[in-house]
Amino acid sequence: MADNKKKSTKKNKKIQKPSGKLGVLIPGMGGAVATTFIAGVEAIRRGIGKPVGSLTQMARIRIGKRTEKNSPLIKEFIELAGLDDLVFAGWDIYPDNCYEASLKAGVLEKDQVEALREPLERLKPMPAVFSRDYVKNLDGKHLKKGKTKMDLARQLIEDIENFKKESGVSRLVMVWCGSTEVYIKQSPVHASLTAFEKGLKENHPDIAPSMIYVYAALKCGVPYANGAPNLSVDFPAMMDLAKKNGLPIAGKDFKTGQTLMKTILAPGLKSRMIGLHGWFSTNILGNRDGEVLDDPYSFKTKEESKLSVLEYMFQPELYPELYSDYYHKVRINYYPPRGDAKEAWDNIDIFGWLGYPMQIKVNFLCRDSILAAPIVLDLVLFLDLARRAGFDGIQEWLSFYFKSPMHGEGLYPEHDLFIQLMKLKNTLRYMKGEELITHLGLDYYDLM
Ligand SMILES: NC(=O)c1ccc[n+]([C@@H]2O[C@H](COP(=O)([O-])OP(=O)(O)OC[C@H]3O[C@@H](n4cnc5c(N)ncnc54)[C@H](O)[C@@H]3O)[C@@H](O)[C@H]2O)c1
Repeated sequence: MADNKKKSTKKNKKIQKPSGKLGVLIPGMGGAVATTFIAGVEAIRRGIGKPVGSLTQMARIRIGKRTEKNSPLIKEFIELAGLDDLVFAGWDIYPDNCYEASLKAGVLEKDQVEALREPLERLKPMPAVFSRDYVKNLDGKHLKKGKTKMDLARQLIEDIENFKKESGVSRLVMVWCGSTEVYIKQSPVHASLTAFEKGLKENHPDIAPSMIYVYAALKCGVPYANGAPNLSVDFPAMMDLAKKNGLPIAGKDFKTGQTLMKTILAPGLKSRMIGLHGWFSTNILGNRDGEVLDDPYSFKTKEESKLSVLEYMFQPELYPELYSDYYHKVRINYYPPRGDAKEAWDNIDIFGWLGYPMQIKVNFLCRDSILAAPIVLDLVLFLDLARRAGFDGIQEWLSFYFKSPMHGEGLYPEHDLFIQLMKLKNTLRYMKGEELITHLGLDYYDLM
């Protein structure tokens, strides 16, 4: 058998220990995703729930050759903050504490929320930076006031500094769980930090509230992940600021529900060279997110994020006979009776040998926030890890969690869930100086 060590990619990066508490800052703290995440962590801490869906808590990672049978839990393999070390804070445009907000969100059973009343009631959101110009269907009053967007940024920075002092946390991360803002394209105000700061002082209309949170976070040395499809961190001024301050950033739009299914199914079809005539996706949902997306300007942001997935995965430019001519449509319909229990239908028209047509129907009765909560947890823990491992800028290895992964200039985003998972696990191996796993495996057969 060949000596595996010869091909070592060992780098032995030094990872700082996660000593002290980790502060978790959440814009949109009263929403369905945020409250389901926080209540879930509280339940797991008390032993009354399991972290299903979370890689940091449940997944294993193979180290070395298959014959070594060494597959520790990720959380035992690499130094992650523990669930007991998380301390929550956040902002929302409604003043409800997390107990009231969880009941309103209606994701978790009433009895379960009741059992967590005491820790949830203690969590009250700070007044938000918000404007109806960017989320038209909401009208909360729990807001900060300021003459300029820079004034608002300063107030957020003060909130972050006060929380750090009062809670005694040693490190912080921020995850945007706020509503989807209207579609904004990159413009000159996003091109550099100087232009952006000038824009903050002059109330530039292309600076959305989510961008003000990002600015405050990065100024305070806090890594940031974006769970919504807004532009919030995905432009040069913020990418440069992240690099300059040595901070990891990730985004955008949590990959749950229908898009998760797409990125599971599409790579399978493509890997077998099955052609595609069309993919029609429709959803009904009745939560606050659905209400926000009922506004065409917020929907446009979501639509862009959802549509790009297939285009990149099928690579029509490389496979024109199979994928250059398919019809792709995504619909989201606000239907209040459903609450958070969304229903999604996909009709997929495919074709095989000699062009013979076939169909696949998917009817996914999912719970969006139940799928999103473990993503928030993993992003919190992995962003903190990335910071301690000296990784900064875009964290492409976290693409696994996003519908519309951020990527470097000149690269296309990788959407295939299985490539994303391999990349994530190899990044963890790399951080620890372990052998990367390529799945070549010739050495098992004495061929190397
Ligand atoms: N639920 C999912 O599975 C899922 C999947 C992918 C992406 N997302 C995105 O995650 C975000 C949260 O989803 P949700 O289902 O919890 O929605 P939600 O409407 O229940 O929660 C969003 C919260 O953000 C608050 N908010 C809005 N603007 C704010 C601001 N400027 N500052 C502070 N708070 C603000 C709202 O008041 C609300 O409480 C949405 O953008 C959604 O599109 C959700």
